[in-house]
Amino acid sequence: MPPNDKFLKLRASLPAVLPSLLMCDFGHLADDIARLEQAGAQALHLDVMDGHFVPNLTYGLPLVETVRRLSSLAIEVHLMITEPEKWVGRYIDAGSDMVTFHVEATNEPGEVLQEVRKRGAAAGLALNPPTPLSAIETYLPHCDVVLVMSVMPGFGGQAFDPVSLEKLQALHARPDLQAVLEIDGGINAKTLPAAVAAGARNLVVGSALFHAKDYGVAFHDLTKMAREAVH
Ligand code: DX5
Ligand code: ZN
Repeated sequence: MPPNDKFLKLRASLPAVLPSLLMCDFGHLADDIARLEQAGAQALHLDVMDGHFVPNLTYGLPLVETVRRLSSLAIEVHLMITEPEKWVGRYIDAGSDMVTFHVEATNEPGEVLQEVRKRGAAAGLALNPPTPLSAIETYLPHCDVVLVMSVMPGFGGQAFDPVSLEKLQALHARPDLQAVLEIDGGINAKTLPAAVAAGARNLVVGSALFHAKDYGVAFHDLTKMAREAVH
């Protein structure tokens, strides 16, 4: 099955800032999403944490269903959960367009990537800062997205780890790589230009957007900065 339409549309207009809803005000979710849409967001990043793979617990299927009802933007779920193979189908049924899970969380990343694609979503594989690129090498042909983590997953508001830049550069230099490179963790006006220069095109941003006074303006400024940083 060809990759999901919303993912193809997003891929045609990169670089893109993907707001991470981890930091948004859930009491005003519909307003927050509407504001991001007005500011030009094309995709939302939803951080699903299970309290096992990471030492934090967030939200799951009901929130994805709610966001799907509220918005036609592309939805990426970032599954920070063990045994993602048990869950990817249900996250796609809930309305996810892109499903990104961790190579560290499963014994069968290749099968899970293929399952995601077969069910009509774009397939993303994430790796933590200590995990070497060799851990994902075999699976690259099955990836629509490679998510290079620039913090240990679990919490927003952490400092950017520059080890991610080396990985991005190495992946970006490969002529055979089809996948979109994504970065997540500690992206703000200071760290974003280097991440884009290293090859990142999906830029996940949490606190730098939601701690801003007007996050429509912050979204606009970061997107402009990302476009300028593409060589
Ligand atoms: C961390 C999450 C991120 C995070 C981004 O585990 O995957 O998406 O919330 O937030 P900032 O931009 O604050 O690092
Ligand atoms: Zn994330």
